[in-house]
Amino acid sequence: MSELEAVYEMEDGTRLEIRPLKASDEKAWLDFVNGLSPDSLYHRLFQVRKPFSHGDTGHFLEISPEKRTAVVAVTRGKIVAVARYELAPGSKIGEFAIVVGDNYQNKGLGSFLLGILADHAKSKGIEELVAEMFPDNERMLELCRKSGYRMDSKVESDTRIIKLHLQ
Ligand SMILES: CC(C)(COP(=O)(O)OP(=O)(O)OC[C@H]1O[C@@H](n2cnc3c(N)ncnc32)[C@H](O)[C@@H]1OP(=O)(O)O)[C@@H](O)C(=O)NCCC(=O)NCCS
Repeated sequence: MSELEAVYEMEDGTRLEIRPLKASDEKAWLDFVNGLSPDSLYHRLFQVRKPFSHGDTGHFLEISPEKRTAVVAVTRGKIVAVARYELAPGSKIGEFAIVVGDNYQNKGLGSFLLGILADHAKSKGIEELVAEMFPDNERMLELCRKSGYRMDSKVESDTRIIKLHLQ
């Protein structure tokens, strides 16, 4: 099992498979993002937008260890959460983001995925993971605070920037 593979058991006994996102997940990924509530999508992307379609998936589904790493939580073929980080060429600082499906929020899944993603990034020598969010996104702030990694947080022009120090 790779570092990015795990099983997350929810309180109700549902077992979620955690694994890397693959190019062949396109349909499941589209169903997931297009099924998010406007509020969840807005908090993830900072914008209200039209539904995603085939032409929009390139950026999100092109995975390569040098550039983009993403894990998904899956049950019965359905994606229910995605966590990812991106690296600029040659950089040791990753930009990360997490989105958990509305019916799965507040059940510890986001925290679990952050743990997997951050431990993996650390093992690859990444020094920091940085995320941008709305300043009122208390859940994301709390999740990062409890990650076990040293955290800095600052608010700049209506955006909260969180930095997790991995090394
Ligand atoms: C932010 C998000 C990823 C969190 O994932 P999640 O699975 O719901 O989070 P978890 O259940 O692991 O943990 C959230 C923590 O915040 C706490 N929390 C929840 N609501 C809170 C609130 N209003 N104020 C303070 N803390 C809160 C929870 O109690 C939990 O802590 P706990 O582990 O001690 O119970 C998820 O809500 C989401 O996808 N939101 C929409 C997209 C988004 O905002 N992404 C972040 C920007 S990249």
